[in-house]
Amino acid sequence: MTIRFDDKIAIVTGAGGGLGRAYALELARRGAKVVVNDLGGSRDGTGHSDAALKVVEEIKAAGGTAMSNGGSVTEYDQMVEMVAKAKEAWGGVHVLINNAGVLRDKSFANMAPEDFEFVVDVHLNGSANCTKAVWETMREQAYGRILMTASSTGLYGNFGQANYGAAKLGLAGLTKTLQLEAAKYNIKVNTLAPTAGTRMTEDIFPEEAFKLFTPESVAPAALFLVSEHAPTNAILGAGAGVFQAAYVTLTQGVALTGEELSPEGVAAHWAEITDRKGEMTPQSGSEQAMSIMKKLAG
Ligand code: NAI
Repeated sequence: MTIRFDDKIAIVTGAGGGLGRAYALELARRGAKVVVNDLGGSRDGTGHSDAALKVVEEIKAAGGTAMSNGGSVTEYDQMVEMVAKAKEAWGGVHVLINNAGVLRDKSFANMAPEDFEFVVDVHLNGSANCTKAVWETMREQAYGRILMTASSTGLYGNFGQANYGAAKLGLAGLTKTLQLEAAKYNIKVNTLAPTAGTRMTEDIFPEEAFKLFTPESVAPAALFLVSEHAPTNAILGAGAGVFQAAYVTLTQGVALTGEELSPEGVAAHWAEITDRKGEMTPQSGSEQAMSIMKKLAG
């Protein structure tokens, strides 16, 4: 199977560097017309530069087609305008990779409420803004591929990243409901948790890790997840060429009645409640509700 994006129009947010740049270059190399979005700020989200323009020049120099967009994902109107320009120039939008991101790391005790809000705003609200901006177009086309960028911090936690982790798991949650609402329109929504040496990880990763954890080794996951052959509702981890799937699972649990329907009953049955034998992976919230009914029925 060859994965191509001929006749596809793709938007990659935060594509002025790091992972987004690698995705944009590879999408263009495989035939997509690419909107390279980036407001070109610093790692904490302050300032502006022409980062997006530089990536567009790289794509064009390699024979590809691209346009730059300097809008901020936090501004819904700017994202609507970006989509309108892409449609005007090329006639549609088939792929959206929500990749833009910032960091304002601090232990929760030292984190100002503004730094919590700002990080959630860029990652979570920013991705919702861009998705909302392309949603109607993708429904009308009966074709869409949307990728959210989560993180191991969102899925599993990391010291000093309460704001970032909350936003990142929020994106996995956004994926889970959108993929249900989008199913009949042939819109597939997935989540990627990358690990790569970029400016975001430059003070965490040792020098050698940068050679191994390249953005280019994550790009195959992103491209597959926005291709015609994409699954939906996947949470994929990718780093240094290693690809893993993550799941939100549910144990079989126990049904408590009478005196046992009490905090003491929960304590007494803790081992059984948390026993992972026969674990399930519900595909929707209502599947969890159904599993409760099944348990009650014995
Ligand atoms: P990066 O800092 O090189 O890329 C993020 C880009 O987003 C920057 O170019 C930045 O200018 C842009 N951006 C920030 N705010 C924006 C806004 N409001 N509007 C438009 N663009 C904006 O870092 P990297 O590593 O390439 O990150 C890409 C994504 O991957 C981020 O969502 C990040 O949280 C996520 N990620 C990265 C990991 C890694 O190991 N590098 C680990 C887990 C997640």
